[in-house]
Amino acid sequence: MNWNTKVTELLGIQFPIIQGGLAYLAYAELASAVSNAGGLGQITAMSLPSPEALREEIKKVKTMTDKPFGVNFAIGQHGKLFTHYLEVAIEETVPVVTMTGGNPEPIFRQLEGSDIKKLVLVAAKRQAQKAEELGADAVMAVGHEGGGHLGKNDIGTMVLIPSIVDAVSIPVIASGGIGDGRGLMAAMSLGAEGIEMGTRFIATKECVHAVQDYKEKLINGTENDTVVIKKTLGSPARAIANSHTERILEVEKAGGGYEALRDMISGEANRKYIYSGDQENGFAWAGQVMGLIKDIPSVDELLARIMKEAELIRNRWV
Ligand SMILES: Cc1cc2nc3c(=O)[nH]c(=O)nc-3n(C[C@H](O)[C@H](O)[C@H](O)COP(=O)(O)O)c2cc1C
Repeated sequence: MNWNTKVTELLGIQFPIIQGGLAYLAYAELASAVSNAGGLGQITAMSLPSPEALREEIKKVKTMTDKPFGVNFAIGQHGKLFTHYLEVAIEETVPVVTMTGGNPEPIFRQLEGSDIKKLVLVAAKRQAQKAEELGADAVMAVGHEGGGHLGKNDIGTMVLIPSIVDAVSIPVIASGGIGDGRGLMAAMSLGAEGIEMGTRFIATKECVHAVQDYKEKLINGTENDTVVIKKTLGSPARAIANSHTERILEVEKAGGGYEALRDMISGEANRKYIYSGDQENGFAWAGQVMGLIKDIPSVDELLARIMKEAELIRNRWV
């Protein structure tokens, strides 16, 4: 069945499915598996310790797939090194750069004149319009159900996607709460030209950096087992609810600011859970879609299953 959309055409991929940037989890193994399966895989620049380490990871992806892939930049987290990482991505002529978490203008300036496709992850209509003005090829829009960092206004995917589709003329990719063919078809019905999934890709065989406990929590947990932290810092983000996030919320409730929270919300605290399974002293991002995740397939099996489910729905409609 033909699944061509503006997004598959733009990115040169078979299926309209993008793997979200997944901090500390999106490396060559996962990215190449998604790209080889017909979607767009990504590696996450901020997870690499240096620009040269990013170059090595990009080269590794290229040995594992000849399909298009992306490099994700979480803008706020790079500090001064940011431009050096991007320089590497430009030198290595990566097909796609995605960006999130701050003003993307400097990235657009640095990418001027290159053929790299530019995608911006947004969580509000105004951000999508700004991305379009800056020259984005497409926007990914994440609703409140999603895992990781979210918009400040708690807007769910169901309302966010059509409102952004109406507000911009570039393709919109729906993100947040999508994990199967039903989600894909719902997103397409809302006017999206593709989907981005984060949480669902963690529970796959090729997400080799995630500790088994994390994957099993995604299988055994329900849609009620996530919580939004960091709202008081103006950067809400959805994680698996555990004793660590409970302590974070207590500090937030007591009016503790960034200094009081810094160690609890650090990359180190994140890695404690996702690499070592330390659920008492660490946290792990995940979206409400964990309530729909029941197994740990290979990426290839997952994409084939999603497209099969979508096909059955499409056949029901015609
Ligand atoms: C563990 C985890 C880490 C994430 N890290 C990033 C990141 O570094 N960069 C980024 O653009 N998005 C990141 N996201 C957000 C995803 O790209 C995507 O928007 C989100 O997962 C969509 O919601 P879903 O989890 O319901 O699929 C992360 C999400 C998760 C679950």
